[in-house]
Amino acid sequence: MRLDKLLSNLKYGSRREIRDYCKNKRVKVNDKVITDVSFDVSEKDVITFDEIEVFHKDTFLLMLNKPSGVVSANKDNLHKTVIDLIKEPYNRYELNICGRLDIDTVGLVLITNDGALMHKIISPKNDIDKTYYVEYSGTIDKTALESPLELLDGNNELYRTKGSKVEILGKNECNITISEGKFHEVKRMFEKIGCKVTYLKRIRIGNVTLDESLNEGDYIEIDYNMFMC
Ligand code: URA
Repeated sequence: MRLDKLLSNLKYGSRREIRDYCKNKRVKVNDKVITDVSFDVSEKDVITFDEIEVFHKDTFLLMLNKPSGVVSANKDNLHKTVIDLIKEPYNRYELNICGRLDIDTVGLVLITNDGALMHKIISPKNDIDKTYYVEYSGTIDKTALESPLELLDGNNELYRTKGSKVEILGKNECNITISEGKFHEVKRMFEKIGCKVTYLKRIRIGNVTLDESLNEGDYIEIDYNMFMC
């Protein structure tokens, strides 16, 4: 990619500003001053701006532990968003949320700069398992909860779930694994069998398990290849 395109994509300035920065010898690639803005750079090159290394990666994947009260959106006028939680250098990129959680649901959210990876993770065609830890009131019938259930989706249209896998952990707590991601799906599944979800936390997406040492609101970069679809 051209040096000016890379730096302007990363919000260092407009193409015209980058041209001036380069002319003023503020940009180096692999320790050499580069004044030609069309200079071709790749992920392997070490780029510095005013002697500070520029973080640039073709693709990365972040694991975020979403707190309650934060919305899974890029922008929101009322609430803090999961994207607001992401700081330098990752917030210089266009970020994609790989599967949304309700405002009161906590836990694992994957965020990437790679739109293709995001589609791979959320596409219903790929049947990626998601596991949730649930606390609930009422008494569950495990067989009923694991069976396909007729629910309303986000457009209030009826659909049939594919069925789930439930692991009872104790009184009024269980893990449930589903492969779809319909609106309020877990809460609606529990409602359907006469129970109410009182706490919901996503703990796994595919083969990525939430790092329990991660505080709510914190995130880490994880191995991009860890996500095998
Ligand atoms: N199911 C729900 O009901 N809510 C979520 O946030 C995720 C899955």
